[in-house]
Amino acid sequence: MKDGKFITLGIESSCDETAISAVADGREILSNVISSQIAIHTRYGGVVPEIASRHHLENINGVLDQALSDAGIRLSDVDLIGVTNGPGLIGAVVIGVATAKALSFATGIPLIGVNHMHGHVSANYLQYPDLEPPFLSLIVSGGHTNLVWVSDYDQCQVLGSTRDDAVGEAYDKVARVVGLGYPGGPKVDKAARDGDPEAIHFKRVYLEKDSLDFSFSGLKTQVLNYINHEKMAGREINVPDLAASFQQSILDVLVDKAMLAAEFRKADRLVMAGGVAANSRLRKQLSDACAARGITLYAPEPVLCTDNGAMIASAAYYKYKKQGPDDLHLDAYANLPL
Ligand code: KG4
Ligand code: ZN
Repeated sequence: MKDGKFITLGIESSCDETAISAVADGREILSNVISSQIAIHTRYGGVVPEIASRHHLENINGVLDQALSDAGIRLSDVDLIGVTNGPGLIGAVVIGVATAKALSFATGIPLIGVNHMHGHVSANYLQYPDLEPPFLSLIVSGGHTNLVWVSDYDQCQVLGSTRDDAVGEAYDKVARVVGLGYPGGPKVDKAARDGDPEAIHFKRVYLEKDSLDFSFSGLKTQVLNYINHEKMAGREINVPDLAASFQQSILDVLVDKAMLAAEFRKADRLVMAGGVAANSRLRKQLSDACAARGITLYAPEPVLCTDNGAMIASAAYYKYKKQGPDDLHLDAYANLPL
């Protein structure tokens, strides 16, 4: 406790960010330290799991010290340690979980494991102090694409998922193919601002009528075929047009399916979550679609969309209040369903 507030430490290491944050009463960010490995993985064109895990191990103690000092607290002020225990790169998740367990064992502070995707949704509780479930959420990240009905802080029902690639994965793959580099999402987002979204037509994949599932794997092939075709014809690739057209074919499907889910569930609130929720065009398009239907859109600021410890702390706080702590048998999982 500090100044009468319940302090949760949130630890996140499921991919290429080593992140720790202190959050008061599940809603107020006291510190949010994010040590990114982007510069390290850029030279390989993507995240190398072994290297990610090694860097988490090297960085995590320093990130912890910084998170405590930025918040102006000591470890003894912390009431709860929350940690991502899946899904993610297993060698990376393990570092956060081992750190959280060691801290809990040494201090007696209760420990709780958090599903990373629940964390993404919970970023909204930090941005919007009055937001409470139930609501509809669109979760779009490097590893997942889901439409979920969040019925309570610790409960949700998956309405639709990707059957193959996640949205962020599609962005990253296409960025690599056109030479924009890693991480692809922000680079495509930027390049697309100078391009014409209608310059090239890529097929939108809607699957069966009324399906809330997604499929993005064919899009990379369409882009590859387009590039090969243009090269064979001796034409230069217009990267901004390609980026904008590729992006538009994804966003049309995401927005249409989110609106369909809202209609099915009679939702009046839509909550964006995950790294791709930082996308400027997706935010604009969803905001227009929601405004036209009287739906309130919640979109956390970009730093809370991509991986961070604050979202894990918020999710941990609410889960702990409902379910109590985990014990030191807490395990790490590459796959962990919502
Ligand atoms: O949620 P996140 O940080 O990590 C996972 O849980 O996967 O999401 C990372 C993904 C990457 O694929 C990245 O390219 C994408 O989010 N991303 C974006 C943007 N910023 C990050 N995609 C599109 N536009 C962006 N501005
Ligand atoms: Zn994430």
